[in-house]
Amino acid sequence: MSTEIPSGADLSIDPLHRLAERIRAKEARVAVIGLGYVGLPLLVGLDHAGYPTLGVEADPEKVGSLQEGRSYIVDITDSEVATLDRAEFSADPDALARADVLLICVPTPLTDHVPDLSMVRRAAESVARSLTPGKLVILESTTYPGTTEEIVRPILETSGLVAGDDFALAYSPERIDPGQGAWRLENTPKVVAGLTERCRDLAVSLYAEVVREVVTTSSPREAEMAKLVENTFRQVNIALVNELAILAKELEVDIWEALQAAATKPFGYMPFWPGPGVGGHCIAIDPSYLSWRAGQQLGYRIGFIEHANEVNNRMPSYVVARISEALNDVGRPIRGTRVLAIGVSYKAGVDDQRESPSLAVMQKLKAKGAEVSYHDPYVAEVALNGDTLRSLPLDEATLAAMDCVVVLTAHPGIDYRWLVRLASLVFDARGVTSGIDAPNVVRL
Ligand SMILES: NC(=O)c1ccc[n+]([C@@H]2O[C@H](COP(=O)([O-])OP(=O)(O)OC[C@H]3O[C@@H](n4cnc5c(N)ncnc54)[C@H](O)[C@@H]3O)[C@@H](O)[C@H]2O)c1
Repeated sequence: MSTEIPSGADLSIDPLHRLAERIRAKEARVAVIGLGYVGLPLLVGLDHAGYPTLGVEADPEKVGSLQEGRSYIVDITDSEVATLDRAEFSADPDALARADVLLICVPTPLTDHVPDLSMVRRAAESVARSLTPGKLVILESTTYPGTTEEIVRPILETSGLVAGDDFALAYSPERIDPGQGAWRLENTPKVVAGLTERCRDLAVSLYAEVVREVVTTSSPREAEMAKLVENTFRQVNIALVNELAILAKELEVDIWEALQAAATKPFGYMPFWPGPGVGGHCIAIDPSYLSWRAGQQLGYRIGFIEHANEVNNRMPSYVVARISEALNDVGRPIRGTRVLAIGVSYKAGVDDQRESPSLAVMQKLKAKGAEVSYHDPYVAEVALNGDTLRSLPLDEATLAAMDCVVVLTAHPGIDYRWLVRLASLVFDARGVTSGIDAPNVVRL
């Protein structure tokens, strides 16, 4: 690959060349800014690869927890944190001055349905304050095409240094799948792009020490887009099966059986499953970054994304209507009914409740007068319509006290056959009871 170093240049005094050497020798100190679901596993991966690391996290509680060797991320164990070799943690952005490589892993939410890059801006500003020649800055946060070049680059260049010449700038989207186990940082191919070829090569040389396969794109825009394509693909397909689930009910077709049959096709098909909606920091948000960007730049929104949002966002209300119907069929109104929700996190096997459709369903049930409680092996406590609820044990006494159990998250480790046997009525919004033929089960 081209290195874009001018011929005749004295490499020993070229700061980016020195950085390349330090990355190769594992002497470069790598700072991760934002130690959440993305940043903490990345820092652990870099530590395991042999780099001295520095975690800078705005939340002092998280910093305290890591300094005491405790993890707060489902995929990272306490012992993984306690045995980190050369990691330091700080809540002080000034600590970034000590880093050679800076990875920005801060949230990119929607605020009032509009991309909110304020945390990316703030992180870039704190990097700019201590930027010196020969550093590498990589944005990992998910965002719309153009962010690295149009938002991050100018902020970093307020330092008086030039991206691509004095310091290197790259983009690499994270692809973690929290709570699922199979695909971790090291065995998931990593997409990497640099502002220049030299920026890209520096970023690739670092990631190649942490992941097995690095894939490059020719500019950050394609890498930014790749991440949004991946998540839009999921968002649209989930909306499709949600819409089909609503249709199938009207057609008196068991959608779960139909989708399982379709999933046996060995080519040209990928299974997606209906549910109470979408949540988390990705599927519920990222596609809107793309559609917003299209609107801002081109004057039109992306129809598929907007429609998928509409379908997915209506699912909690649809699920509540179906629960109400199921209760009606056994002669009960929602008001005063004791409902146990199984799962408040947005997906199975994690504690993450951001944008969780389970919470939306529970709020709506409560607003209609139901007495809502929940069980979630990953979440001890949630706030619901001004009240604090604590997870109830999932045992015979709890089930005997409920009029209806609503499965909203397909958490592993729950015996759904046992649950169906003991509960008086089960509304299954996740298909976990497929194949269990019982009169007290109603499926989405
Ligand atoms: N969670 C996922 O599954 C996932 C997967 C792929 C990509 N992403 C993307 O990665 C990015 C981060 O997501 P996440 O899930 O890790 O978020 P998170 O909320 O779990 O973690 C982000 C952390 O950044 C901290 N932070 C915010 N501003 C800061 C600053 N200026 N300095 C230091 N720390 C700061 C927050 O306190 C928080 O702890 C987002 O763009 C998200 O879309 C997330």
